[in-house]
Amino acid sequence: MAPKRIGIIMHGVTGRMGMNQHLVRSILAIRRQGGVALKDGTRLMPDPVLIGRNPDKIRALAAEHGVARWGTDLGQALQSEADSVFFDAASTQLRPGLLKQAIAAGKHLYCEKPVSTTLAEAMDLYQAAKKAKVKHGVVQDKLWLPGMLKLAKLRDQGFFGRILSVRGEFGYWVFEGDPARNRPAQRPSWNYRKQDGGGIILDMLCHWRYLLDNLFGEVEALSCLGATHIPQRWDEAGKRYRATADDAAYASFRLKGNVIAHFNSSWTVRVRRDELLTLQVDGTEGSAVAGLRGCRIQSYADTPKPVWNPDIPQPIDFYAGWKELPEEDTDNAFKAQWELFLRHVAGESKTFRWGLLEGAKGVQLAELGLKSWKQRKWLDVPKIKP
Ligand SMILES: NC(=O)c1ccc[n+]([C@@H]2O[C@H](COP(=O)([O-])OP(=O)(O)OC[C@H]3O[C@@H](n4cnc5c(N)ncnc54)[C@H](O)[C@@H]3O)[C@@H](O)[C@H]2O)c1
Repeated sequence: MAPKRIGIIMHGVTGRMGMNQHLVRSILAIRRQGGVALKDGTRLMPDPVLIGRNPDKIRALAAEHGVARWGTDLGQALQSEADSVFFDAASTQLRPGLLKQAIAAGKHLYCEKPVSTTLAEAMDLYQAAKKAKVKHGVVQDKLWLPGMLKLAKLRDQGFFGRILSVRGEFGYWVFEGDPARNRPAQRPSWNYRKQDGGGIILDMLCHWRYLLDNLFGEVEALSCLGATHIPQRWDEAGKRYRATADDAAYASFRLKGNVIAHFNSSWTVRVRRDELLTLQVDGTEGSAVAGLRGCRIQSYADTPKPVWNPDIPQPIDFYAGWKELPEEDTDNAFKAQWELFLRHVAGESKTFRWGLLEGAKGVQLAELGLKSWKQRKWLDVPKIKP
């Protein structure tokens, strides 16, 4: 059977996420594997057109990856009947305007998180997409990470007993970019400017929302303390700028069922843990520590019984009491979600759980996190009425 083509307008693909995770490791990887297999045996083949402002950059990117179609005029691309999906991974602040344009053109939408910088904008997008009857999806990649899939399986098997708490530790040192110190920054400078949609609270609380909601229980309340630990950085041109956004967040959450979660998120921390994100889950019957890929568990029977005594060297090797779960064959997390979305657009699954309403919940938590910090108090997370 001949493959069924699906045209995708890809915007923001010269950026870090757009290029690596979405273009190369998702859409081009799906093309390389011969498309997405549908239930009726047809293969759905994505056909991307790359759109960007700078013709030299976008032409070079298309040539490097053997993508035939590229352009610089988004308005024109949106008018084309040949492409039914619009994808965006440009910087956050631009997203609502771009998605609105795509909705007006009747395109289905898929985009990076956060969908916007305010809950009002995120809800407005959800309502507009619903009214236009276009399909929509928002990236919630962490749900498909091997480490998080292992946690979900442990939860479903009842390994934890009653889940008590979740400790999330995320972050690494992002270099300031000072040319004199010769360590260029590894993240874009807009991340550190509030006026450009930056800040770790907006960036990471979106992720923690869907992770917590899906794995451990809906987030019902939070308390968040942000910080701008490093007040000045250097941009892509080597020019010094003032960091106006938060670069660390210390947030506690109360979940449905009274599970307590606490996440430290930081671009100003040095790593002494197995992975850039680790989650420790403690339950009455057992605990697990998962990263992006790996997961170690400790059962009730394997739990050591330490006694507090600072006067002798610690006799227990605490690292030895954990068993590593075997590696499983899993796909790239972004690609896994893309495949589900493409199936949804092809009409295979009527509903798609990870759409603009879920995206709005992430923005809601980030917005409340910023408010909690400012007001120095715990805040409830109201249920969003769709
Ligand atoms: N899912 C995740 O884990 C994850 C991780 C990092 C970033 N993100 C999100 O992905 C998005 C992009 O982040 P990034 O780190 O790739 O940023 P980036 O700065 O590397 O890329 C931004 C892209 O937007 C384009 N762009 C910027 N201004 C533009 C304009 N005025 N008009 C048209 N295009 C413009 C740039 O050319 C580039 O292609 C952000 O919304 C960010 O929150 C998600």
